[in-house]
Amino acid sequence: MYTYDELAAFVRGCTRCPLSRTRQNPVMGRGSLTADVLFIAEAPGNSEDRDGIPFTGPSGRVLDELLESAGLSREEIYLTNVVKCHPPGNRDPLPQEQEACILFLKHETILLRPKIIVCMGRVAAQRIIRPDLRITREHGSFLCRKNTWMTAVYHPSAILRDPAKMAETKEDFRRIREKRDELRG
Ligand code: URA
Repeated sequence: MYTYDELAAFVRGCTRCPLSRTRQNPVMGRGSLTADVLFIAEAPGNSEDRDGIPFTGPSGRVLDELLESAGLSREEIYLTNVVKCHPPGNRDPLPQEQEACILFLKHETILLRPKIIVCMGRVAAQRIIRPDLRITREHGSFLCRKNTWMTAVYHPSAILRDPAKMAETKEDFRRIREKRDELRG
């Protein structure tokens, strides 16, 4: 098992895919290493590319509102992405970029051993839960795989584009918190 610092150093020096040539900063996951809940989004945006930290831009503000509404905070979760470098023009990360990067997420998951994995948005949900997952229909529902609960929610940027999704996503976050409390016993 690699330590967080070892993984962060691998990510910093990574040249496994062409995104390493266009990124400003790779974005290693952040948060509590004893978190019960692991949040996974797709890839860093422009602000994150500049800062080297996940969710520092407008979707980060939406994420903070969702967490706060559920009584959660960034300090008690761990937040990461399927792909650690910004895809130019904010396009979806390509399958081969995801393939090159997924080992870092695997090692983050081994390190954390979370009780709950929350996929934010279609790209993460289809990569982690099921390739044909439909987020519109299935957001907020839980399944248990290898003793880990998994769920998908709308990506915060989808809420920026359609604020009507905020209320139902707050409800999904409330249920994530409830599930976490239940599993803590
Ligand atoms: N969007 C993502 O998917 N990840 C980030 O870290 C920021 C914005």
